[in-house]
Amino acid sequence: MPATKPHPESVLISESCLQNRIRELGAQISTDYQNQELVLLGVLRGSVLFFADLARAISATGPPNPDCGVRVRFEFVQLMSYHESTKPSKVQLIRGGSNYLEHQHVLIVEDIIDTGQTLKFLREHLGTLNPKTVKVCTLLDKPSQRQVPVTIDYTGFEIPDTFVVGYGLDYAQQYRNLPYIALLKST
Ligand code: IMP
Ligand code: MG
Repeated sequence: MPATKPHPESVLISESCLQNRIRELGAQISTDYQNQELVLLGVLRGSVLFFADLARAISATGPPNPDCGVRVRFEFVQLMSYHESTKPSKVQLIRGGSNYLEHQHVLIVEDIIDTGQTLKFLREHLGTLNPKTVKVCTLLDKPSQRQVPVTIDYTGFEIPDTFVVGYGLDYAQQYRNLPYIALLKST
């Protein structure tokens, strides 16, 4: 039988499940940063759909007063990682991340944390930009693959050691536009 190219096989996290959890995360972040300025720092490209939904789940106005919400700013960085099987991945900054983060509360918005190398690199980079605080919100966490310890403040879902696509996550730049998270079948 000819080998089929890797493709989404079954739904791991449905659209409604994603949206419910994102509303919960947004409510928590709204409480934690109430009446403060917050820079949402999206990591391109995988976090874009999560970023857009999470941002809309964070209250820009009260309660109790209309001016008590979170004053959100959008910023983005693009990172690239090179994977070599025997060595830890090497991460490089492609764009974004300069002094607009100085003295700001920053919330990194990630699609998935796997080995932790990307987040480690980004935290070190942000450390040079003098933000007031840095926290991390990831949609997915794959803790079984961790190579470096990381601290995550807000997690959407913990998933097993499996490759997933959809809702921003890709395989060879494909399937980012699926509205749910799917398992990738590779044979
Ligand atoms: P790490 O934590 O440095 O290993 O890298 C996380 C990055 O690897 C994510 O931002 C994704 O771009 C990619 N990645 C890791 N696991 C998956 C997956 O299951 N599907 C799609 N991309 C993944
Ligand atoms: Mg990513």
